[in-house]
Amino acid sequence: IPLLRTRCFGRTYEYHETIESTNDRAMDLARTGAPHGTVVVAEEQTAGRGRLRRPWVSLRGLGLYLSVILRPELPPRYGHETTLTASLALARSLRDLYGLPARIKWPNDILISGKKVAGILTEMHSDPDRIQFVVVGVGVNVLHSSMDLPSDTLYPATSLALERERLGAQPSGEEPWAWSRPHVLAGFLNTWEELDEIYMAQGLQALREDLIAVSAVIGKVVRVQVSERILEGVARDLTDRGALVLDMEGGRRETVWVGDILHLRE
Ligand code: BTN
Repeated sequence: IPLLRTRCFGRTYEYHETIESTNDRAMDLARTGAPHGTVVVAEEQTAGRGRLRRPWVSLRGLGLYLSVILRPELPPRYGHETTLTASLALARSLRDLYGLPARIKWPNDILISGKKVAGILTEMHSDPDRIQFVVVGVGVNVLHSSMDLPSDTLYPATSLALERERLGAQPSGEEPWAWSRPHVLAGFLNTWEELDEIYMAQGLQALREDLIAVSAVIGKVVRVQVSERILEGVARDLTDRGALVLDMEGGRRETVWVGDILHLRE
């Protein structure tokens, strides 16, 4: 991976022209002992998976499809913190390297101007009291034109290339290759390793303010699916462990650890 400055992330690395799903491959590698920071990348996935059993369409040459194996020393109930660390790393690298106003739709989507540019699927293998490993799968729309993206009015999608054109964003380096997928990958992994080190040493609370600053949901009215329930309220805060605090009608407060935001508005 050119431009990689990490000590650990991406130093064990597998590249595939085509694969069913990088998450499946990373789960297999993790089971056979692959170390913290192992990265699996593919040009194309034939069975890419998204959250909520949705497929993740993974077109050759257009997107970045990768999975990273992490071995945090945590009880399983805190596994979602790795998703938040990854989300923050991706949002921050898109902001710092490309000047794009990336925001986090808690906990695992990256939006630019309200449209989804990347998604994260975290899968975990654990004992009752301890995580064995986590696989964080990340799909980024890099070079897609509007014709390559699903036309979904409820959940609109975009790509880095489309947003660069629309916003006239400039990468921090002038070189044209700065928008290539290896460059996006290296920038993301460099940032992620830095944040992962902070997270491992100090816990998620050290990243809480940054997570709030780039949140797409704090202060908004959200509808959240929490298992079988749907909650609606104002997203007020994140806890030190990254749970979403909702102010419900009637003054009640709810803290959501795991959920999917179905809808958000001002
Ligand atoms: C979502 O937004 O629903 C999450 C999408 C995650 C897609 C990535 S692409 C690389 C990795 N392999 C998969 O099969 N899925 C994730």
